[in-house]
Amino acid sequence: MVIIQYKFEREKDVKVSGSGVVGVEGVEKIVQEFGEEHKLDFRLTKTAHGKTYQTPDGRLQIVVEDLFSLSPAKIGLFDVVWDRASIIAINVCDREKYAAVMMSLLEPEFRYLLVSLDYAPFPNFNGPPSSIPLSELTVLYGDKAECKLLESHGGNDFQKLLPSGIEALAERYVLMTPKKK
Ligand SMILES: C[S@@+](CC[C@H](N)C(=O)[O-])C[C@H]1O[C@@H](n2cnc3c(N)ncnc32)[C@H](O)[C@@H]1O
Repeated sequence: MVIIQYKFEREKDVKVSGSGVVGVEGVEKIVQEFGEEHKLDFRLTKTAHGKTYQTPDGRLQIVVEDLFSLSPAKIGLFDVVWDRASIIAINVCDREKYAAVMMSLLEPEFRYLLVSLDYAPFPNFNGPPSSIPLSELTVLYGDKAECKLLESHGGNDFQKLLPSGIEALAERYVLMTPKKK
């Protein structure tokens, strides 16, 4: 899964009427496996935009979609985003486009937690997962968001995806909030 987002639908501007989680994944099989692993009674719906797997109460929806084709018209706007390891899964040349798509999906008062990886260059390996320094994240998102590093640690979760011998591995948790005017 590339993105897990919490969406809060509001009525009359203030009253919170419900919440749910929307995920996006490009590979349908991964969505089906996720459903089986977590014993979810997924229902498949087909819309003009594509396929969505959702629980009977509709509170968890996973959209099968190329994340570069997402737009507010397709999946709406989000208050809270948990973006784990997607910026390191895409091609390095697509990062700017990715950041622009993600920022276009945010409500004005957003909280966006981005999990990324940073490691020293390694011969003949450019990912995925690729490495992204904190300074590049700040450039990508900095014109619209305040970027605050919450935590940085050894990246054990991603070690199995990397060649052995990679040095200075850091898994980074960056919280983004609206840019102060
Ligand atoms: C490194 S995994 C991260 C998975 C999950 N977020 C996690 O933290 O374990 C990257 C995932 O992104 C998906 N992915 C890569 N490019 C995509 C794209 N353009 N659109 C949608 N999904 C994509 C892959 O299929 C893969 O499941």
